[in-house]
Amino acid sequence: MPGKFIVFEGLDGSGKGTQISRLAAELSARGEKVHLTCEPTQYATGGLIRDALAGIAKRTPSEMAGLFLADRIAHCENPADGIKSLLERGYTVICDRYYYSSLAYQGMDLGLEWLIKANLECPAILKPDLCIFLDVPTDTADDRISKGRASREIFEEKETIERVRKQYFKVFEKLSGHNIRVINAARSPEEVFEDILKIVI
Ligand code: TYD
Repeated sequence: MPGKFIVFEGLDGSGKGTQISRLAAELSARGEKVHLTCEPTQYATGGLIRDALAGIAKRTPSEMAGLFLADRIAHCENPADGIKSLLERGYTVICDRYYYSSLAYQGMDLGLEWLIKANLECPAILKPDLCIFLDVPTDTADDRISKGRASREIFEEKETIERVRKQYFKVFEKLSGHNIRVINAARSPEEVFEDILKIVI
């Protein structure tokens, strides 16, 4: 593929949004064509997922895994603004969360084996060139969520955050063929960004 596919992962409150904006600005300034995207998407499946995350619609863990999978397939394949089409046109695609989130969040309840198969062996789903994991201790994530939000989503309770962080590391150990870089994100945004740039450029 002519373009590069970069994924950011991390707990809620790990600072993904800030770092993604900075990286996009920096790469654009260097003349790259950059496209920012996220999961859940803005497509119909993403809407169903957001209702479930907000607790408006109740969904079982398996349903959530299936919805995220369908959303990801649409995200890759959409002919207009899908990831595959953008990479083919030479864009650097930066995605806020991808299948590593499904393995971490849905994997806690469902077990990893079938989730890994469903996501990583699906021919429609692209493998990222790079995954940057912004690592913060659970307390930092919890504090940042408290400061930034009026209400919490279903995965944002403190005990869940701790379990998710552990699950991310379990997932990374299993995915040996993936380019995953863990960055200590419990520092100033400037220090974190410096490390990100060293990896990306
Ligand atoms: P959201 O508030 O959209 O974004 P963020 O916290 O990244 O700023 O939250 C997305 C939530 O969806 C987050 O709690 C993680 C969860 N999620 C999954 O459970 N599985 C997935 O496959 C993805 C992509 C996200």
